[in-house]
Amino acid sequence: MNAEKTDSGNNHDVPVIAIDGPSGSGKGAITERLAGMTGFHILDSGALYRLVGYAARLDSVALDAETSLARLARDLDVAFLPNSEAGQPLSICLRGEDVTWAIRTDQAGVDASKVARLEAVRQALGELQVRFRKPPGLIADGRDMGTVVFPSANLKIFLTASVEARAERRYKQLKDKDIDVSLPALLESIQERDARDTERAVAPLKPAADAIVIDSTSLSIEEVVTQIVTRLKKEIDTGVFQQN
Ligand code: DC
Repeated sequence: MNAEKTDSGNNHDVPVIAIDGPSGSGKGAITERLAGMTGFHILDSGALYRLVGYAARLDSVALDAETSLARLARDLDVAFLPNSEAGQPLSICLRGEDVTWAIRTDQAGVDASKVARLEAVRQALGELQVRFRKPPGLIADGRDMGTVVFPSANLKIFLTASVEARAERRYKQLKDKDIDVSLPALLESIQERDARDTERAVAPLKPAADAIVIDSTSLSIEEVVTQIVTRLKKEIDTGVFQQN
């Protein structure tokens, strides 16, 4: 993994903005905008769960084989590389192969959600995730960033949206990437994934007690970003970003 191994999760003085929420709530787009504005690094924690599911399929490991999956998670041979197209998200390589798009299919999301139920897998990926906390700061996108992985995050946002709005957004994203999918099938898949992610015993999807909840059903990405930036400015004015 080429997240540097120097900080061992102890970079507590480095600011973190946690963006949690269900599939299709707009976390990825919002995270990228905020990173562009702040110059902070990005942690796409969902990609790590997707990679474990993907590696499991490659190695014919069952999606409930906790010990083997945790080993896969600990030994993930992954690199996040700058994209050759300017302004595009980082390219993700697993074992030297570019899997940036291969891990974005709906099936890869379902597989990720299945391996994400397992405590040993979460433990292994949790250790990896805290190493992304590096200066000047981190925008961490996921399900348990504010509750479990970065409980000391300086700002915690929980993004939600109706399941129909989320399914439509995901449908458009996948279509734009020429990934074939049907809207009703996607809606059903998202509902199942929501249930699995919110009802699991370990680190379930839920807002942290100190999170700001934003319902983006009828908001554009720009409107959500504006709300978050307004809040961010307030936190900076009150010194939250200097105190940790
Ligand atoms: O954000 P995403 O759709 O790429 O995430 C895929 C799955 O990974 C999601 O359904 C649940 C799991 N996940 C998780 O359990 N915890 C995280 N911090 C991020 C993702």
